[in-house]
Amino acid sequence: MSFVIAIDGPAAAGKGTLARKLAEHFGLPHLDTGLTYRATAKALLDAGKPLDDEAIAAQTAASIDLGNLDRAVLSAHDIGEAASKVAAMPSVRVALVAAQRRFASSARGAVLDGRDIGTVVCPDAPVKLYVTADAQVRAKRRYDEILARGEVADFDRILEDVRRRDARDMGRKDSPLRPADDAHLLDTSKMGIEAAFRAACAYAEKRPDL
Ligand code: C5P
Repeated sequence: MSFVIAIDGPAAAGKGTLARKLAEHFGLPHLDTGLTYRATAKALLDAGKPLDDEAIAAQTAASIDLGNLDRAVLSAHDIGEAASKVAAMPSVRVALVAAQRRFASSARGAVLDGRDIGTVVCPDAPVKLYVTADAQVRAKRRYDEILARGEVADFDRILEDVRRRDARDMGRKDSPLRPADDAHLLDTSKMGIEAAFRAACAYAEKRPDL
């Protein structure tokens, strides 16, 4: 396996920011795999199709273009909720995991972040990170982001959403969110993103197989 950095963790733990910083630092392409589940959900919603028909959802997943994932559009809260529903369907995962593996097999290597990168998508990745933080801390980050955009937010609702999403992602049968046995754990509850980045770099650079 080439230089693949696999990053997993629950929503709002900081893994996306960390993945982007690591990709820039090591000069690698980056794929936020959550966007592939979000794009599938959005395509279904836009076409007025049901979110619970696995055959239709899998067909939609197979048509997702990795080169055309618009983070600004896909980051909407409702799309995240819908994404975690379609992500529980095995044949949706088969289609998206195939596309994610093609991305990961680029000669230079790659950084991928999601929920099952170290366990399912790239189990042979030489560097695996599991980024987590207390649900309260993650909810507060989301809350502050919304306020910073000048919008109104309800902290208790956000905390409830974070917990519901965790339960769905960790409790599903296919590829539940969990750290790979050989993942390096980074708890960002009391650590800023810069400190997490330094810790991740130090870990990645001392891998003997690089
Ligand atoms: O990370 P993000 O919030 O964008 O992911 C949206 C949803 O997509 C997650 O709640 C999860 O259910 C699903 N997902 C997944 N496997 C991945 C990435 C995301 O199941 N590798």
